[in-house]
Amino acid sequence: MAMKKLLITGTSGFVGSRIATHLAGKFDIIAPTHQDLEITSTQGCMSFIGKNRPDIILHLAAISDTGYCENHPQESMLVNVAGVENLAAAAQAYNTKMVFFSSDQVYNGCTELGLLTEDTPLTPENHYGRHKLLAEQRALEICDSCVALRATWMYDNPRPGMRNHNNFVINFQKAISEGSTLRFATREFRGITWVGEIAQNIIHTFNLPGGVYNFGAENTLNTYQTACEYARILGHSPEGFIIPDSERFPAHVRNISISLEKIRQASDGKINFKDTIYGLAAFYDKTDK
Ligand SMILES: NC(=O)c1ccc[n+]([C@@H]2O[C@H](COP(=O)([O-])OP(=O)(O)OC[C@H]3O[C@@H](n4cnc5c(N)ncnc54)[C@H](OP(=O)(O)O)[C@@H]3O)[C@@H](O)[C@H]2O)c1
Repeated sequence: MAMKKLLITGTSGFVGSRIATHLAGKFDIIAPTHQDLEITSTQGCMSFIGKNRPDIILHLAAISDTGYCENHPQESMLVNVAGVENLAAAAQAYNTKMVFFSSDQVYNGCTELGLLTEDTPLTPENHYGRHKLLAEQRALEICDSCVALRATWMYDNPRPGMRNHNNFVINFQKAISEGSTLRFATREFRGITWVGEIAQNIIHTFNLPGGVYNFGAENTLNTYQTACEYARILGHSPEGFIIPDSERFPAHVRNISISLEKIRQASDGKINFKDTIYGLAAFYDKTDK
């Protein structure tokens, strides 16, 4: 049987490069560069999809830097909202399944504590979060089979030929090699996920009904406690190394921790993630020793 055609945008990026490597051989992958497919071009997206006729679009291209989006809101709107709309319109026109990455940052204005479900009322407090939310809404208006994945912050080791971002485990590696300390917020709750687990689970998202889903590791600890646990996993005492920062997020506790209940149910348990601490421990066992 012929392999399904999977178009992945953003394969030069941190997530896209790792997912494309993981899925190689399982799909007939079309991986346009930014130069091949400018997602802000409505006509360009329509004609690229029309010409290549993928069975699935996995849309990862975006401006992923929240600080950059804050300082360049028009560009953020164009790439992170209009880019999604353009591909959703093409997916609708050619009856193609589309899965794309939103973010747990849509929850960053929530004052509720605990693991947040997809029906939580949202008032994101930065442009990145607002634009990701708008992109979800617009995509589903245009094409109701679209799947938007609210992903957590991700981590991985540096890998040759793949883009690297500053991430949780790399921040630890740097601090340990420099002998410096790390500060983490006590008033923040968030899940943190190994990008390898994202890649392992992504294939099952192609069968999800259209809608918005949390996608990544759950975590009930605050970020300071999470960092202390990770220090212990690495064999370092958190004392004097991990510094609690109780001044960040003064207006309200920043809780963007996701609940996985909906995606577990919708995928009959096929999609699942280790809890953040178990995920960090498993990552350390697998790759760091
Ligand atoms: N990394 C995380 O921890 C994280 C967490 C939650 C959600 N996400 C979301 O996950 C997705 C992937 O993130 P990432 O970390 O892999 O991002 P990334 O490393 O910054 O990569 C972004 C990709 O998008 C491409 N791109 C940017 N603007 C484009 C445009 N106008 N047209 C076509 N391609 C364009 C880039 O190509 P060039 O570099 O060649 O321009 C690159 O391949 C994004 O939607 C992001 O918001 C990421």
